Amino acid sequence: MEKARGYPEIVSIHRFARVLPTAVALLLAGCGTGPTTAMGGQPVDLIATGGRLAVTLTAAESMVPYHSGTRWAMTYNGTAIGPTLRVHPGDQLSITLVNHLAKPTSLHTHGLHVDPAVDNPFLMVDPGKSHTYTYDIPRDQQAGTFWYHPHVHELTAEQVASGLVGAIVVQDETDDALAAVSTDSVLVVNDPPLVTANPWGRGMGMMGGGSGVDMMTATLGRTGPRLLTNGQDGVALPSTTGKLDRVHVVNATSSTRLRLSYSGSAMQVLAATGGRLPAPVTVDSVELAPGERTELVLAGGGQLTGQPLSNERDGGPVGNAEVIATVPSGASTDLTTLPTALTADTRDLFAAGVKVAKIRTITLDGHMNPSIDGRLFDPNVVNFEAAKGTVEEWRIVSNSPMHHPIHLHTWPMQVQGRPGWQDVVTVAPYQQVVVRVAFEDFAGTTVLHCHILDHEDTGMMAVIKVT
Ligand code: C2O
Ligand code: CU
Ligand code: CU
Repeated sequence: MEKARGYPEIVSIHRFARVLPTAVALLLAGCGTGPTTAMGGQPVDLIATGGRLAVTLTAAESMVPYHSGTRWAMTYNGTAIGPTLRVHPGDQLSITLVNHLAKPTSLHTHGLHVDPAVDNPFLMVDPGKSHTYTYDIPRDQQAGTFWYHPHVHELTAEQVASGLVGAIVVQDETDDALAAVSTDSVLVVNDPPLVTANPWGRGMGMMGGGSGVDMMTATLGRTGPRLLTNGQDGVALPSTTGKLDRVHVVNATSSTRLRLSYSGSAMQVLAATGGRLPAPVTVDSVELAPGERTELVLAGGGQLTGQPLSNERDGGPVGNAEVIATVPSGASTDLTTLPTALTADTRDLFAAGVKVAKIRTITLDGHMNPSIDGRLFDPNVVNFEAAKGTVEEWRIVSNSPMHHPIHLHTWPMQVQGRPGWQDVVTVAPYQQVVVRVAFEDFAGTTVLHCHILDHEDTGMMAVIKVT
């Protein structure tokens, strides 16, 4: 069941039938004066000072610039990609989410090691309402690239795919050392529907109920017609004399696994999805499942491209690689200027001597209705219970013909045979992976789920309670 990339055709019968106040304001403001124009191809940067960052994110359907015209998107603060939130370990991050959408939404800080009572995937913000999330970022939060997005069961894929995404960058002292020798850009990659009429219908039911897509799309995961980076067809990175180009990349697509490659003189990876590696590693390519992030140094001029990969069978390429970012020719090639040691959490959960409190086997089942341990998500059922302060080993076994990127909230994990910390682990068809999870610091109830968000929306999600 191979599939061409792209959404089913969306019929434009409601063209401009309903224009939100935000969109009207942006239209009146015109290009350049509204918040829709990201400076230099970057989302707006909001930086914590004095240990605090307080922001308001207003979720709405808006028109955003695209090519020489506009397209419809779901946006935070009217921009194609939400602002980048830059914080430090120990900071307090307070986000007021205002919902101007037609349906409920919510906010999740994907990958942050924060209290699940605050980062609560069961809390919904109804249309017209707001909620303030106050996150105390722990001192032991790993530096790295994280992101935020809605977490509304049955609506997550639609809202994320439509553009409700933004990056969170946690910076520590390594960032100062890196900033002296490299630029610092954010590349949020997604593949939204490119629509010139508002497709969400405002309750008119044009897309049907539930997750709003047909069975086939729900099974394979929705994809858009092309990859966008920060809302554009690839971005130009700065040319800063003598500096290397460094990028934080977020795979914010709802279903598209990507293989990143660089045509310049070399590419080094500084971080796994969940935090920094102890030293930069030279690589040919990096694979990012939906939800995953990386931090790269791109040496010499060239193009960073993303090759979409199939979620089925051998997981091979689908369509052509697309340009994510371009580094100008003449850019530095001198990787010796980079620090050779990065601040990293070097604990090894697989080391001899690590006490494993429990070994579990978790099965991934199904094709049309993928599930975890044969059960579909029920917010009132606790599927897994674990004890705070323990390390568990999970053997995740797939009985399914698809690649499933499995994501655990709150607690960091390590994948056997893979360096660094992860919060997403991809399980290939009929394969098994072994992970160890450190249930530290927080008790509480949250979820694990497939980050092909149509799978999450159709029930490939389980509740975990840590006491
Ligand atoms: Cu990025 Cu539960 O999600
Ligand atoms: Cu998450
Ligand atoms: Cu899945």
